[in-house]
Amino acid sequence: MKHHAPATERNREPIAAVLRDVLPASGTVLEVASGSGEHAVAFAGLFPHLCWQPSDGDPAALASIRSWAEEAGLSNLLEPVRIDVTSPDWPVEAADALLCVNMVHISPWSATEGLMRGGGRVLGTGAPLILYGPYRRSGVATAPSNQAFDQSLRGRNPLWGLRLLEDVVEEAQLHGLGFDRLVEMPANNLTLVFRKS
Ligand SMILES: C[S@@+](CC[C@H](N)C(=O)[O-])C[C@H]1O[C@@H](n2cnc3c(N)ncnc32)[C@H](O)[C@@H]1O
Repeated sequence: MKHHAPATERNREPIAAVLRDVLPASGTVLEVASGSGEHAVAFAGLFPHLCWQPSDGDPAALASIRSWAEEAGLSNLLEPVRIDVTSPDWPVEAADALLCVNMVHISPWSATEGLMRGGGRVLGTGAPLILYGPYRRSGVATAPSNQAFDQSLRGRNPLWGLRLLEDVVEEAQLHGLGFDRLVEMPANNLTLVFRKS
């Protein structure tokens, strides 16, 4: 049942460093596309003052999250829920922050549209939506490793691929999510922070 995503071991500390600055002092963090659940367990442990709500669109991911969560036994880690971000029906009506790691480029653009639509709906004023992953940026050369990754993603699914940062910002704005900040991360990744206006 337990999946293991090696990247989570490499990126959890750099992501946590940004989360320390950005997450609220209390409330519920909705994590979409939680995948294996390893981030959810790590972050729920690091931020015990917050309730951590993992989710994913894939039932196999939900089973993995459950397995990791049972082993961790953290009281602030909630039962995972199925959220397909492209669906208008999310079983979570409100959240104080929303985190999405490494989904935007490994899903069709409709997933980013759904994520922003849902984020605009569930987040309260000032609450952050935090994205982590590789992006292309207008006027900035894409690192060769990201170019190769983009090509391999498009080879696996023509609807996948690294998104242009400016397109993501524009989509967020359509749903009342203003661009707050960009943080350069190791291995040519970015963390993007939006806030509900
Ligand atoms: C590369 S994995 C990243 C998982 C995890 N966040 C991590 O960093 O290891 C991408 C995840 O996005 C999820 N996903 C893709 N499309 C989705 C959608 N429409 N709604 C919700 N989750 C989706 C997949 O099920 C998968 O768990």
